[in-house]
Amino acid sequence: MKKIGVLTSGGDAPGMNAAIRSVVRMGLSNGMEVLAIRKGYTGLLQGLFEPMDARSVSDILHRGGTILQSSRCLEFREEAGVKKGVEMARKAGLEGIVVIGGDGSFRGARDLSLMGMPTVGIPGTIDNDIGCTDLTIGFDTALDTVKDAIDKIRDTAQSHERCSVIEVMGRGAGYIAAYVAIACGAEAAIIPEQPFDFETDIIKPIIDGKKRGKENNLIVVAEGVGGSVEMAEHIEKVTGIETRATVLGHIQRGGSPTVNDRMLASRMGIHAVKLLKQGIGNRIVAIKNNDIVDYDILEGLDMKKMMPGDIMNMAKILSL
Ligand code: F6P
Repeated sequence: MKKIGVLTSGGDAPGMNAAIRSVVRMGLSNGMEVLAIRKGYTGLLQGLFEPMDARSVSDILHRGGTILQSSRCLEFREEAGVKKGVEMARKAGLEGIVVIGGDGSFRGARDLSLMGMPTVGIPGTIDNDIGCTDLTIGFDTALDTVKDAIDKIRDTAQSHERCSVIEVMGRGAGYIAAYVAIACGAEAAIIPEQPFDFETDIIKPIIDGKKRGKENNLIVVAEGVGGSVEMAEHIEKVTGIETRATVLGHIQRGGSPTVNDRMLASRMGIHAVKLLKQGIGNRIVAIKNNDIVDYDILEGLDMKKMMPGDIMNMAKILSL
């Protein structure tokens, strides 16, 4: 391939810029032309293409968000939208595309590949909810951001002997909630993958903890479960312990990426270009046991990894 495109799609994630830089510079190093496609699949349909050189990706490694901007494009979910996307890409002379995004974006990447435009996906989402890869770009940074916030909340919860309910992102996945529950010593994490019982999973650990001398309590709730404000009210009513709710929201998506996210993004970008160079599309780039590998898109999305539920059992033991 001599000319490839790169776009970012879906929710942005810290480290996406490092992935863009890697794709652009690896492409240029291999004698390819690289076009940026702005605003995700929306930009593909609108022809928002821009030639990239080495300097176009200077000074972006440390920046959160995505310099290419992103979108969730409804039109691209229809067959006609994908067909138009292939036509627009061909008109611009593209022979392959790298899509940096989450599972929704990868379905678009697969459709593009099946319609004749080889496309490779790089997993960029703070949710870490792509089965085939141990890690997604942005997860490590988001964990750090949430860890900082919860540590601060713990300071004030301890001063006032309160319980704090903290709602973190993850519409369908509890990886952020489960990991920070361990890293921040929460009494419980409530995640969408695991049904919970209010009495045994929330009230009992708080009451038992109090008997053992605990003076503050942290309950982490994933966005997919939601209801953190009502949960806090209920905890206060049942336990008599003053309780506050904090919804962390989009602060979790921003910020300068960690070294691990920059490394992961840089390695994945190089691998994606290697695949396209060989004319290979319909693949997801992944990291498995610290090796960069790739999978068929649908197979990759269907794969299972350690579930947050397994991690939660650890959290229960450690919050004793
Ligand atoms: O997929 C990443 C994510 O941050 C989810 O955790 C969250 O549910 C969603 O995106 C929020 O999306 P939006 O940008 O539409 O608010």
